[in-house]
Amino acid sequence: MSVELEEEKLRDAVERALRRARERSIALTDAVDDDDLVRQHSKLMSPLVWDLAHIGNQEELWLVRDVGGREPVRIDIDELYDAFQHPRASRPSLPLLGPAEARGYVREVRDKVLDVLSSAKLEGRPLVERAFAFGMVAQHEQQHDETMLATHQLRSGTPVLDAPPPPRSTGRRLPAEVIVPAGPFTMGTSTEPWALDNERPAHQVHVGAFAIDTVPVTNGAYQRFIAAGGYDDPRWWHETGWAHRIEAGLVAPRFWQRDGDGWLRTRFSVVEPVPADEPVVHVSWYEADAYARWAGRRLPTEAEWEKAARFDPATGRSRRFPWGDEEPTDNLANLGQRHLRPAEVGAYPAGASPLGVHQLIGDVWEWTGSDLAGYPGFAAFPYREYSEVFFGPEYKVLRGGSFGTDAVACRGTFRNWDYPIRRQIFAGFRCARDVRPDELG
Ligand SMILES: [Fe+2]
Repeated sequence: MSVELEEEKLRDAVERALRRARERSIALTDAVDDDDLVRQHSKLMSPLVWDLAHIGNQEELWLVRDVGGREPVRIDIDELYDAFQHPRASRPSLPLLGPAEARGYVREVRDKVLDVLSSAKLEGRPLVERAFAFGMVAQHEQQHDETMLATHQLRSGTPVLDAPPPPRSTGRRLPAEVIVPAGPFTMGTSTEPWALDNERPAHQVHVGAFAIDTVPVTNGAYQRFIAAGGYDDPRWWHETGWAHRIEAGLVAPRFWQRDGDGWLRTRFSVVEPVPADEPVVHVSWYEADAYARWAGRRLPTEAEWEKAARFDPATGRSRRFPWGDEEPTDNLANLGQRHLRPAEVGAYPAGASPLGVHQLIGDVWEWTGSDLAGYPGFAAFPYREYSEVFFGPEYKVLRGGSFGTDAVACRGTFRNWDYPIRRQIFAGFRCARDVRPDELG
């Protein structure tokens, strides 16, 4: 392929990613009235109208001003939309752009960006190499779209979102776990063009033998943990987790309520019985950790999770995704808010990894046992606040994306992180365990 054609394809891909993100941002903000847009639905979240203008502000900073070298659109609002200046709880009291103003602002920025895209050089400095800054901005918007989806889940009132149900399980019986022999694999990436700084560089990691659940832990399995008194027995809980469990009065995943002997859940304002075969979602790291200990297991480390997802024993190389190097399609993973819930376990056989592990990408983010840290050779890019300032024991790593994650912000190397008490995110988990040498045959 000629260089010109290659570049044209790249510009088209950027435009598609930006348009897809914007369609979603508009759908999420047009779904509610102006009152709802400016209201704070939870102390954990920003008003939706803050997210919207913040998306535009980041796009302006990186693509209009930096890449495009153009005049600022609204330099006066930079401070208002700097996530590091104002914690979420304080955002409703700021003099924010109103709904109409915010919509006009993001439209104006986007028009300029499409113009920048048509002529910008896509090589020469790392920020523009293979359109990195454009890819970073598309991922940023999609990540805020997922955050806005979580705000919708926290919002009370009548249902406003709708989507078809995900595919059902094929019904084929899967083994409970997959055993992975000890050995090295390539973790992280140095070649994925839009990978973020924390996914880089690619490096060899030796992983001891382990077993990992074939599918995420289901609501049915989690209900057995509750019924067995799992929430009342400090033996299963991390010390800090137990203190939090008592203080916060946790008795079940967030959004669940008792219904006689069973459970109901509220999902985007719809109250329904908890489906036994779906991955459990809206549990904190502490709950996931307690469940795993009760089950005689543990959470996988981040390296174990990534090896289960990417390692191909036939070639020894690591794939971009469990199914291969091709972008996700509808039959491979439950991504992109196509459905408003995780799919039953066993619903995506075509998306399994070479080792035979299912639904690693999509459905629910999966808590791992690991703290967020830089890989050997890590270099902050394009700014320290993207991820380096979060490194340390405060944050636990989540992997794989959820039904609310867009494909542009999800791959085998993608890393997400949050506090171990968080439950409003679309997070579940699967378990792992050490393997004895005699089990390896
Ligand atoms: Fe942001």
